[in-house]
Amino acid sequence: MGAGCASTPKAVTEQIPHEFTFPRNFLWGAATSAHQVEGNNINNDWWEWEQTRIPKARSGQACDHWNRFEEDFKLAQALGHTAHRFSIEWSRIEPQEGQWDSAALEHYAQVIRSLRAKGIEPIVTLHHFTLPLWLARQGGWLSEKTPQLFARYVKKVTEALGGDVHYWMTLNEPVVYTYKGYMAGEWPPGGKSPKEAIDVFENLLLGHVLAYEQIKEIYTQENWQEPMVGIAQSVLIFRACSDRSFRDRIAARFRHWMFNHLFVQALVRGKAYCIGVFNVHLPRAKTLDFIGLNYYTRDFVLHHGYGFPGILGQACTATAEQNRHTGKDNFLSWEIYPKGLHTFLEDFSRYKLPLLVSENGIATNDDTERVSFIVEHLKAVAQAMEEGAPVIGYLYWSLLDNYEWAEGFVPRFGLIEVNYTTQKRRIRGSARKLEKIIRAGKIGFEKHEY
Ligand code: FCB
Repeated sequence: MGAGCASTPKAVTEQIPHEFTFPRNFLWGAATSAHQVEGNNINNDWWEWEQTRIPKARSGQACDHWNRFEEDFKLAQALGHTAHRFSIEWSRIEPQEGQWDSAALEHYAQVIRSLRAKGIEPIVTLHHFTLPLWLARQGGWLSEKTPQLFARYVKKVTEALGGDVHYWMTLNEPVVYTYKGYMAGEWPPGGKSPKEAIDVFENLLLGHVLAYEQIKEIYTQENWQEPMVGIAQSVLIFRACSDRSFRDRIAARFRHWMFNHLFVQALVRGKAYCIGVFNVHLPRAKTLDFIGLNYYTRDFVLHHGYGFPGILGQACTATAEQNRHTGKDNFLSWEIYPKGLHTFLEDFSRYKLPLLVSENGIATNDDTERVSFIVEHLKAVAQAMEEGAPVIGYLYWSLLDNYEWAEGFVPRFGLIEVNYTTQKRRIRGSARKLEKIIRAGKIGFEKHEY
């Protein structure tokens, strides 16, 4: 182009990306859960389930993180992480009913000290899908006694570790847990009963409230700085299989309410009601100090009758969804849909509570896909924050490749690759990309009309 040519200002503006600077105290890091990384959690219901139901997907020694946490946290520190979410394995703390293992409590105290020494904020999950065997044998979350037993375990853990923890997450994905274990029959205990699922759902709500009260009470007694207590809520975009079908749209709306909002709404309001299905009253309202959101994908929903659970709909056929699908899937065939994260951060802002992206990640064998997954999702976070969403952090799932429940070790979610034969760790390029963004503290993006 000749020197005298006038350039069009519009084209220039379009090329300049908009830049968003994250707050200095933004929590940057990754998440794991005990059963998926520690190894040899032989005393819980998942271990038992693996031996009989999924012999090809046994957790075994997993990532041996129980013994290698120090090495793993050094890597997280080198990658610029300032926060780390992990879970405490109840079956290690209370191996038999009412018997407490002080060595196990001391182990987690060391885990927390190791993180703190590296300038990494611990974010502690108290229940991430597994139950001690003794408790599973007496009905697990189906039993009316379990909310109290959960609160008693939380009391022990808080007394032992509380002085060093600011962020607690009582439950991980209570709705997914209920659905997979009590309706779909895919996870322990393999239930397929909507009636049981509703009982479990109610007991989980109560369990959270009692645990919340317990934690708060101990912090007050001990004069520790007031903690932040929340849950990790799974959120999935639900789209009608056919936008022209009123019935599909209803099914998608109903799913959205039931799977994404109901649990959180019940905790905020202290009650939940669904005509002819349930009517729950909790001992108190407002038992969330922040909301963790685990976001991965979008589902297309086909109407399946007006009764319960038919109204939840079912997955629609590939052909029907084809024209609206982004065309990109992860290794587990979950659609990659970054825009959905923006949608939820905006949507959940309605609760006027701090939001933490407590899980977001991709299973893939192609690390360049992970790079673009992370970048695109962080752009969605940046835009939501710029528009006012109160986001306090972003935790990638997961720090390490790990045991992906019924899918076993095949899906690779890690920022760090694990060789399960040698237990060698290798930092992936995507981890370096995330590190760059963390260290820069900002990201460039073009505004979308979401
Ligand atoms: C979430 C779980 C987590 C992990 C990811 C992939 O639903 O909380 O344990 O399995 O999915």
